[in-house]
Amino acid sequence: MLLACSLWIGLVASLLAVDRPPEVTSEKGMVVSVSPEASDAGLDILKQGGSAVDAAVAVALALAVTFPEAGNIGGGGFMMVWPANAKGSDQPAQPVCIEYRETCPAALKRDSFVNERRQEGHHTIGIPGTVAGLALAHEKCGKLKWAQVVAPAILLAHEGFHIDAALASALNRMAGSPTANFSEFRRVFTKPGGGEWQSGDRLIQRELAQTMKTLADDGPDSFYRGRIAEQIVAEMQAGGGFITREDLAGYRAHVRKPVSTSYRGYDIYAPPPPSAGGTQLMECLNILEQFDVNGLGPKSPQFVHVLVESMRRASCDRVRHMGDPDFTPIPVKLLSKDYAKQLSEQLDLSRATRSESLAPDITLTDEPPSTTHFSIVDGHCMAVANTYTLQNSYGSRVVVGGAGFLLNNEMTDFNWRPGVTTTRGQVGTEPNVMAPGKRMLSSQCPTLVSREGKLLLVTGSPGGRTIPSTVLGVVVNVIDFSLSAREAVDAPRWHHQWLPDRIQFERHPAPDYAELLRQLQQQGHLFSDDVKRLGDGYQRQGDAHTILIRHGVLHGAADWRRTVGKAAGW
Ligand code: DON
Repeated sequence: MLLACSLWIGLVASLLAVDRPPEVTSEKGMVVSVSPEASDAGLDILKQGGSAVDAAVAVALALAVTFPEAGNIGGGGFMMVWPANAKGSDQPAQPVCIEYRETCPAALKRDSFVNERRQEGHHTIGIPGTVAGLALAHEKCGKLKWAQVVAPAILLAHEGFHIDAALASALNRMAGSPTANFSEFRRVFTKPGGGEWQSGDRLIQRELAQTMKTLADDGPDSFYRGRIAEQIVAEMQAGGGFITREDLAGYRAHVRKPVSTSYRGYDIYAPPPPSAGGTQLMECLNILEQFDVNGLGPKSPQFVHVLVESMRRASCDRVRHMGDPDFTPIPVKLLSKDYAKQLSEQLDLSRATRSESLAPDITLTDEPPSTTHFSIVDGHCMAVANTYTLQNSYGSRVVVGGAGFLLNNEMTDFNWRPGVTTTRGQVGTEPNVMAPGKRMLSSQCPTLVSREGKLLLVTGSPGGRTIPSTVLGVVVNVIDFSLSAREAVDAPRWHHQWLPDRIQFERHPAPDYAELLRQLQQQGHLFSDDVKRLGDGYQRQGDAHTILIRHGVLHGAADWRRTVGKAAGW
């Protein structure tokens, strides 16, 4: 086994020739995110005496400035909070999930989009949850004043920051697009004075700074009932969107009990529905626990086989059963060990299951980027795993007039054509059809892992339906293969989402994996060729900014797959 693990570590080390930020250690506090400015803003809040949740609010708002692709105040997400150690208490810590998923406007019904094809624009915008979610988390677990945690975002937007090559090229591509719509997007994101954005240019967003200042001065309610709400409603009326004043005033974030399971003596916690991601993760772990994963070794066809077969089954159950729990009952068996045992016993260990045989009547759509995840631990061991999103990169592309921020296109996460499921990728299963006031189903899966009441791992990722697969990989790499934070994040990632019946593998078709891939193909597994390949010939899955705690030391590993993130330790 040791040999298998050291071979694996060697392969991991030789992975893609991309600059990878170093693993950072600290005993006092750590913030890991996609954006160096946002990580630094979070660390600064910790240094001011803020809790992990204070830092999380600051990071989330800073990302809305520095990572407009997915950082947001106009979207939604899920925040897992590990409470600070209660002094004198021997009760095990009870993590909570702050759920701030977007919601369907009252004007829309189950078949409102039956004939709709456009995936961007005002009609695709769900009622945003981010500000309500951050405010709720802050109210429950914040130590600093609200205005204090909003301050870094105001500064970054007002003074500007130096953009990197990835943001420069994205803005050139997006703002330069001749599409007639989205003129406000172009006005806000076109380089002042003309010409193309270059890496190192300063992006100043004065209108966004004013919006952040309104949030700071008038409080988070200004987004739902005050000045910002009025700007959103005006934008909806001008562009034919559906969100009304009443929709905004009625929005609520929720504190929800996480889903959880035990896995080889560790406790795993992740968001409950309306995200399917946590339930999928638990189902996969419960299946994998039936196998000697450590003994099989990470590069064995037997391990990869049971890994992808667990993903296939959990994804199928997602499509069949999952939606907003306030509208549709979610079977409790999805989290049960007995059910996982039954599934693992039915699993053919020598042949790939054909996905259609699990449920011949239903199929899946593909899902575009982008989302972002960050992880934080403070000096009192309070931790936050937060994933939030605009859905697509830059969401609906609608920037609220004069307010400088983007709105999501999360309505595309509902099943738009009830009952219509096709082999070409439409899903029409009932639990996730649209209804007024309903949350659309998500894959987001910010995750906390502990052992005997002590926090071990804080992780999560973007990547649409690949999210639970990415998180599963990180968790298994840490628990079963004893990898470090850096190695667990760097290891090549696997994904299967039931349909299309294809394995996605980051290193397909790398020569050093040829034998493994050949053996899997012999077992009947099919591989995805229709993925976007990057300059080095390989696809990348997710962006898992992770903190691992060993012997009281925080090890932060920023992922490098989207852009160079930063682990900021104190
Ligand atoms: O919540 C969800 O499941 C998706 N809308 C997330 C989209 C996403 O992760 C795209 N990211 N890269």
